[in-house]
Amino acid sequence: VGTLPDLFSPLDTGKLRLANRIAMPPMALEAAGADGAPVSRHLDHYLARASRGVGLVVVEHAFVDLSGRLSPGQLGVHHDGLVPAYRRLVKALRPTGARVALQISHAGAAARSAVTGAPPVGPSPVALPREGAEPPCELGEAALEELVHKFARAAARAREAGFCAVEIHGAHGFLLSQFLSPLTNHRRDAFGGTLQGRARLPREVVKAVREAVGQDYPVLYRLGLADYLAAERGGLTPEEGLTVAGWLVQAGVDMLDISGGLGGARPAGAAAGYFLPWAQRVRARVRVPVMVAGGITDPLLADQAIREGRADVVGIGRALLADPAWALKARRVLLGAG
Ligand SMILES: Cc1cc2nc3c(=O)[nH]c(=O)nc-3n(C[C@H](O)[C@H](O)[C@H](O)COP(=O)(O)O)c2cc1C
Repeated sequence: VGTLPDLFSPLDTGKLRLANRIAMPPMALEAAGADGAPVSRHLDHYLARASRGVGLVVVEHAFVDLSGRLSPGQLGVHHDGLVPAYRRLVKALRPTGARVALQISHAGAAARSAVTGAPPVGPSPVALPREGAEPPCELGEAALEELVHKFARAAARAREAGFCAVEIHGAHGFLLSQFLSPLTNHRRDAFGGTLQGRARLPREVVKAVREAVGQDYPVLYRLGLADYLAAERGGLTPEEGLTVAGWLVQAGVDMLDISGGLGGARPAGAAAGYFLPWAQRVRARVRVPVMVAGGITDPLLADQAIREGRADVVGIGRALLADPAWALKARRVLLGAG
């Protein structure tokens, strides 16, 4: 495979083997049944992309507990009864050869009482800087312990269902991202204050997930490296994020997926490949592969990011929604073949 462009070279970490460096990052289809189970629309949607040359498919965020449900159409992985539905999804995707992971999430203060039936929970009783955000109830230590356990159970279900990896959602202003941010975490106990305190919940979740899935199972973490691209907007800084990235790897993460924090995954007006500079810094810091998505639509940019060592895996999100055959076309563009 020496003649292939690097975007199409395999990745082998020992635990995780990808046929190439193209990932479909998690993107909510919002099509789940009232119980949170995947339906045939999910199957068609993921099959259309998994069967067209994508190396890794990360299935959209699934809530680990009803208190962390973001929307009525969101997938849930909060109880054992859902495992058979996921098993069917995984089984349908298996013949494609794409690796399929499940993202597990808790929305924290981003959840709405109109959806969950209860006020949202979060690190501190401060609303997210978003329109319509409700101030959450502060989570006590016993409740936090329980949530750590829910993440672990959800990860175990993902493994049981046959997913080849699990991704912990620690970005985009959801619960774990809220804990990391000084804008939303005003706690003075062990889960707040210093960066170490703010990173405690994310680390405990990683450790508990690792314990639940075993040493041989790949655990990915989507990390909001900083809250905003523009430093003057404040919040978690990239330097803090880099320190956290190191801690998460120590805690047992096998691959980091770099994205934004409170500012989300799609900062307005950002240039193509807007999180690549962050990914590159993380990659220089940690010993695990780094994945990154964000405004990458051009196969040449994707290939260059890999060849220049800015990232190990590139996420192609909206471009894959628009064109399920993006990876096949990229191969043609880069290899110059018809
Ligand atoms: C419709 C839609 C749904 C998304 N859902 C999720 C999600 O469930 N979990 C997540 O971590 N990111 C989610 N994202 C963010 C994407 O994974 C990705 O980071 C973002 O779209 C930037 O990549 P792109 O420019 O290639 O689209 C979503 C994005 C879109 C467009």
